Amino acid sequence: MSKTIFITGASSGLGKATALLFAKHNWNVIATMIKPENETALAEVANITLLPLDVTNVAQIEGTVNKALGLGKIDVVFNNAGYGLAGPFEGATDDQLTNQLNTNLLGVMLVTQQFLPHFRENKAGTFITTTSIGGLITLPFNSVYHATK
Ligand SMILES: NC(=O)c1ccc[n+]([C@@H]2O[C@H](COP(=O)([O-])OP(=O)(O)OC[C@H]3O[C@@H](n4cnc5c(N)ncnc54)[C@H](OP(=O)(O)O)[C@@H]3O)[C@@H](O)[C@H]2O)c1
Repeated sequence: MSKTIFITGASSGLGKATALLFAKHNWNVIATMIKPENETALAEVANITLLPLDVTNVAQIEGTVNKALGLGKIDVVFNNAGYGLAGPFEGATDDQLTNQLNTNLLGVMLVTQQFLPHFRENKAGTFITTTSIGGLITLPFNSVYHATK
């Protein structure tokens, strides 16, 4: 029986490439993204299901995870959605900082939380989470670096 991977932020980059790679290897892929209605390449692949998911939308996380679980067992969750916020740290606005934490940190936690009961029940399941070697330190570090140049 084919295994299933659930991917966040599959509209581009690593998320999209992962969706296509797993589909090619006969996995069932649930590719989630903010606007699945705009996706064309993944929509053409038979074993890829598109679902809407903005990981900052708490209600949508619950709804989309429930829909995904309604399709069958999930074996792997790839927490990929996220983005870098570059620039001098002192220039970052409250909204920019809040949105990045809601996306890169809280989004990962909330998606993971929704899947944990399913994995515990199955006594199996894998989370893969993209992070960064720069992490949050990148912002203050860069600002100090530029300020001392
Ligand atoms: N590429 C790198 O060098 C690098 C380095 C360190 C970490 N990372 C991390 O690796 C992951 C993938 O990066 P990438 O290089 O493939 O970048 P990418 O092409 O920009 O892909 C990021 C994906 O995350 C999605 N996303 C952003 N905010 C979201 C939200 N609130 N809800 C759902 N999806 C959201 C984007 O969707 P939209 O396009 O619809 O906004 C996009 O599909 C990200 O988490 C990134 O921070 C990348």
